[in-house]
Amino acid sequence: MSLKRVAILISGGGSNMVRLVEDMQAEGYAEPVLVASNDAAAAGLEKAARMGVPTAAIDHRPFGKDRAAFEAELLKPILAAEPDVICLAGFMRVLTPDFVGHFAGRMLNIHPSLLPKYPGLHTHARAIEAGDPEAGCTVHEVTPILDDGPILGQARVPVEPGDTPETLAARVLVQEHRLYPAVLRRFVAGDRTPVML
Ligand code: GRF
Repeated sequence: MSLKRVAILISGGGSNMVRLVEDMQAEGYAEPVLVASNDAAAAGLEKAARMGVPTAAIDHRPFGKDRAAFEAELLKPILAAEPDVICLAGFMRVLTPDFVGHFAGRMLNIHPSLLPKYPGLHTHARAIEAGDPEAGCTVHEVTPILDDGPILGQARVPVEPGDTPETLAARVLVQEHRLYPAVLRRFVAGDRTPVML
């Protein structure tokens, strides 16, 4: 039985992608077959190449508001890699229902909040503003509704007095790097029992 093939989409530094690739390469439960970005300058692309993972970059800017045209281009290297699972990891483009439909039930995302609280952006600032005692991150199945979909894992951290969005983000990111590999390992084994850290 061949290993599950995993493609990872990034937009920036790709610290979550690095942890996923490291975990797959160390534990051997799946094969990272592509790291793709909407930004050719994404620092994660160089990190992926150094780890021996094929990369692709499709700049979304020339497509303007034509999301479908951008996604048609982005699909090309992804489909060529024949992934079984897609992991969004710091990927900052909203995907259309059509794109999501290609990978229904097999596309994951990590979001830096305890969903269903704080879908969208500025999650840490919102948690601080609300005076929440806790914050964290969520890995969920991607569905056509942004930051929605069945929860596959969560990790919680305390919000400390004096926290800024930056200090809270740093505390959450440490947990993201623990959570995402744990969820992917379980997901490729066909187990959707949520990982709660
Ligand atoms: C992380 O906070 C992640 O939750 C969000 O993007 C940020 C950067 O992720 N999706 P990475 O370092 O590019 O993996």
